[in-house]
Amino acid sequence: MLKKDYRCFNLISLMKKISLILLSIIVLVNYNCSGSSAIQEGDNLDFKQKEWASAQEINRRLGKGINIGNTFELRQSLQPNFVFDDMERIAGLGFSHVRIPINWERADRSSSTEPYTIKNDFFKTIDSVVKEALKNKLHVIINLHHHDAFMANPTTNKERFLSHWKQISDHFKGYPDSLLFEVLNEPHDKLNTSMWNVYLKEALNVIRKTNPKRCVLIGTAEWGGISGVKYLSLPNDPNIILTVHYYSPFQFTHQGASWTEGADAWLGTEWRDTETERQKVIDDFKPVLKLAMQKGIPIHIGEFGSYSKADMDSRVRWTRYLSSWFNQQGFSWAYWEWNAGFGIYDPKTKSYRMQLIDALLNDKLLD
Ligand code: BGC
Repeated sequence: MLKKDYRCFNLISLMKKISLILLSIIVLVNYNCSGSSAIQEGDNLDFKQKEWASAQEINRRLGKGINIGNTFELRQSLQPNFVFDDMERIAGLGFSHVRIPINWERADRSSSTEPYTIKNDFFKTIDSVVKEALKNKLHVIINLHHHDAFMANPTTNKERFLSHWKQISDHFKGYPDSLLFEVLNEPHDKLNTSMWNVYLKEALNVIRKTNPKRCVLIGTAEWGGISGVKYLSLPNDPNIILTVHYYSPFQFTHQGASWTEGADAWLGTEWRDTETERQKVIDDFKPVLKLAMQKGIPIHIGEFGSYSKADMDSRVRWTRYLSSWFNQQGFSWAYWEWNAGFGIYDPKTKSYRMQLIDALLNDKLLD
């Protein structure tokens, strides 16, 4: 009897060992197949999303945000190192989300030929940045930024664009609802208004296969501005947010910008916060508010900001008026940007531009 029990015990322990080995093999195979493991033990993040919040609720939670601009969307030679502590700084200031512009098209990050595979190492880099933001209780938006080859030749590069979304959505499918996808930054060039309406739906269909409920932001053609709103045909999907960019008056926000032709001639342009200037903002946003009313779609302002060559007093007035007005409309927003030419933080001296920060975060000032 003893012997039989002993043998039986041995058999059970052998079976346990075999199942453990099998389990490990399955885990390893899965790890390799998905390109890399997005979620890992020890992350200390609750990735078991049970209830998915509505787009309205997510937009409310997005609230006030900032772009980690001039970082992951830049060319390889220009990209500065990302500083992980910045997420804590951003959360500490009182922002509730970060928008992370990303260029996945870059030659060192993905292959330009079929099957357009995004490199594991790059997924790991973005994983670590997103996780750092989530650990600091920030919501996160990731996008496709400066996908210039796609926009220069949309028909030829369509499969590459859709393949990127297939890989990205598959990789991040286990993340909580505080991670959002934005289909494409500032569609322009050959990607015209009607093509964009078709392609954005195709990308959304790809995303929905693996992320049925994740909030997806959709921007407008013609560089993501308000002028593109009238051409936009929105997909019938409850979990989408409309995102627009606002840099008006452009001669003020982009004065002296080296990447904008003729911008030196605008140096000295002020924004005085007059009734006329305020009214211009309100008039500009009429199509956005109309669409929001008609479709019940939440609104996010994905970029707004002024370049450092404008005078600080005007920048403060413009930033304060816009952020307060956006809050009043129930829009969420992300200031352009954290620590470069438009930035609220100087990484060299590790100092804050407090006037701009107050203008963004103190919303009692709209009179
Ligand atoms: C671009 C940046 C630019 C900013 C303001 C962004 O969409 O990616 O390069 O600095 O707009 O012009």
